[in-house]
Amino acid sequence: MSLRTALVALLAVAALVKSDEDIYIDDALSNGWQNWGWSTVINWAATDLAVGTSSISAVSDAWAAVSLKSPTTIAGFAGLKFDIAADPAQLQLYFQSTADNTQSSNVPISAISAAINPTSFTTVIVDFSALPPSGAPLEAGTWDRINFQALGNGASYHLDNIQLLTSIVVTPKFLSAEPIASNYIAVTTQGAVNFTSVAVKLNSVAVAVTGVTTYVPPDTPSRSITYLKLASRLVPGTLTVAAGDLSVSYTLPTVQYGSITTAVTTPISPLIYGVNWPPSASYIQQLGVTISRWGGNAVTAYNPFGDFTNAANDWYFENRASDGGKADTWIGWIKAAGSQAMMTIPALDWVAKDSTSYSYPKSIYPNQQKFDPYNADAGNGLFPNGSYVQPTPDPNRAYVPWNTTAARTWLTGLANKPEFVFIDNEIEIAGNTHQDIHPAPMSYDEELTRMVAYAKMAKEVLPNAKVAAPSTCSWWFYWTSAVGYTDNTAHNNVDFLPWFLAQMKSASTTAGKRLLDYLDIHYYFQPDLSANDDAAKALRLRMTRSLWDPGYVDESWAGSNVQNHQPNGAAVWLIPRMKQLIDSNYPGTKLSISEWASTADGDITGGLVTADVLGIFGRYGVDVATYWSNPDAKGPVGLAYWLYRGSGTYFGNTGVQVNLATYNAANTYGVYAATEGGKLSVVIINKDTKPLGLDLSNVPTGSYLLRHFGGASGVAKYQATITLTSSQYIVIPAYTAFFIKQT
Ligand SMILES: *[C@@H]1O[C@H](CO)[C@@H](O)[C@H](O)[C@H]1NC(C)=O
Ligand SMILES: *[C@@H]1O[C@H](CO)[C@@H](O)[C@H](O)[C@H]1NC(C)=O
Ligand SMILES: *[C@@H]1O[C@H](CO)[C@@H](O)[C@H](O)[C@H]1NC(C)=O
Repeated sequence: MSLRTALVALLAVAALVKSDEDIYIDDALSNGWQNWGWSTVINWAATDLAVGTSSISAVSDAWAAVSLKSPTTIAGFAGLKFDIAADPAQLQLYFQSTADNTQSSNVPISAISAAINPTSFTTVIVDFSALPPSGAPLEAGTWDRINFQALGNGASYHLDNIQLLTSIVVTPKFLSAEPIASNYIAVTTQGAVNFTSVAVKLNSVAVAVTGVTTYVPPDTPSRSITYLKLASRLVPGTLTVAAGDLSVSYTLPTVQYGSITTAVTTPISPLIYGVNWPPSASYIQQLGVTISRWGGNAVTAYNPFGDFTNAANDWYFENRASDGGKADTWIGWIKAAGSQAMMTIPALDWVAKDSTSYSYPKSIYPNQQKFDPYNADAGNGLFPNGSYVQPTPDPNRAYVPWNTTAARTWLTGLANKPEFVFIDNEIEIAGNTHQDIHPAPMSYDEELTRMVAYAKMAKEVLPNAKVAAPSTCSWWFYWTSAVGYTDNTAHNNVDFLPWFLAQMKSASTTAGKRLLDYLDIHYYFQPDLSANDDAAKALRLRMTRSLWDPGYVDESWAGSNVQNHQPNGAAVWLIPRMKQLIDSNYPGTKLSISEWASTADGDITGGLVTADVLGIFGRYGVDVATYWSNPDAKGPVGLAYWLYRGSGTYFGNTGVQVNLATYNAANTYGVYAATEGGKLSVVIINKDTKPLGLDLSNVPTGSYLLRHFGGASGVAKYQATITLTSSQYIVIPAYTAFFIKQT
């Protein structure tokens, strides 16, 4: 090759290889980057906190952002490096496309590094092939904006030395190694590591590895796992694993005893594995979503004759295009994806008239507490002192009238029929959420009148649809109305839900047909977990007892300030209590919980709570349940659904009895077993921060599909086919949800 050819070749290579790109180093954005942020006060040359001469200081209103816009897409870069000083709980990062206005998934700043703090800079790298917290790659997209966005409380933060990186070197490394099942070590690694150097010792005796199987999760390829099959079974004592630089040791605890009695069975309703608003058919498949709800505050104002809605007090009483598009189309694709559809029928007197109007314009009501950061004219309907803006707005400003005749026209015309209909959503608090169209507090009597009128209409138009109501928001409103306890008094001191059930029974008798098929409630755990420290996490993990345990006094206001006329009123004891109320007031009615949530969707403890709750719903006979709202499929809550139902592998439909020797086991473990088609499936949730060794008699040895998430490997999901060589000592790592099903 001549010198000239060599030079040309070298230049050609240089042109192909990108170099790192500075977005901000000192004083100003560089390389053509611009700020497209909103509702944020920015100093581009702040000196109060800086690496080098200056930094970006930003103060964002709720949901406002510093939005850095590149002249070109950021395709081809491997990651983003920046210095940040912030309260990590107040900010998130996401990528956006100007070309099609799509957004990436959100990366909570708290998930990037535990070291991030408001008083000093922390240098972090976000690897586009492994976004925190799930480890999934950045979605494909024509990304050209990088957004640092405040969450609902706003944020004050500093950024510095923002750079796109062309390469991120992943050093091959052992990350974790944990005992699991009866004779495996689950090892997570990054990069290509050499497994021949792994040494396992149990009680100081070397144990040979007889099999090595590596699994690369399709959604999170950055987190591969290798199952090392051991020549002998795990037993109590000290286990050490040495691999490369990693050396870990576990105390395998003495055994806890339990048994399965396959002769004692309860049917598990297939409809407890639902969510609100699944984003796609593939999501329904991946998580095994059996039932999907069109719900939430905005559906109260859904206008099916234009597909508009109003966000109510969730967002400045602004109209917008309906979240789910056209209800008829939504029902169609939900059912085609294999899920049942639950449609909410509005039951107030107004629905949104268009996609742009709003109830409280600044031009009419200048004196308001807050205005929309994206629309400075739309206020939140409150005076600065927090009381409702007066006079009440003209409903015609943003709405058109609605009644059962309009609802009948809509339901009659549906090409796709829903399996379930709800009569509105949390209508008992309409005087607050929808203060613009229903400023008066909802009373027992008004609520019943609306429920009966719409239920009758729905039963006429859709005789095969199940009616579910009244979708009451919370423990407080199960027992009283927004009018207050004078309303109980006016109804012989009968608490709301038992009164409602009895009234629906009598209205059904009058109508000559059942008007209420499912008593529907929303259930949100009440304990204050905001600290999210070790104590709060332990409380989160044991509060699932409120769903079933009559001996569990709720560790919240509900347990210490009893405001109902119910027996054992300090225990929530939710499912058995509701079933008793149904039996005494309207027998034959089924139980639906159409909103509930883990209290921490991004935290492993939220995922463990979800796995525990799904087991409890099955065991105690909930008929329908849908999560609020659609958990990230790759996050801890989504993984709990996948554990039970993912991609066609199901936990059994017939629950079998599980006996655990210690009463307090419910604080630390959840153990659920079921059969279907002669195959046993078992879910074990270890809520403890150390491994569990469980002797579960009557679990046959043999070949099983194993699925798990959590543990030292982080939240990522794993599965493998394993051999259970013993049911006398099954090890579940700390903070892990574990599923096995006979193959
Ligand atoms: C893996 O490690 C073993 C033992 O340390 C060594 O003999 C072998 O050559 C290594 N294999 C590779 C591919 O590096
Ligand atoms: C709140 O402010 C409004 C408007 O200034 C006023 O009319 C109202 O009386 C105030 N309410 C209370 C409780 O102070
Ligand atoms: C609903 O409103 C329309 C239009 O005002 C009216 O014709 C109809 O009678 C109303 N239906 C009921 C049940 O009140």
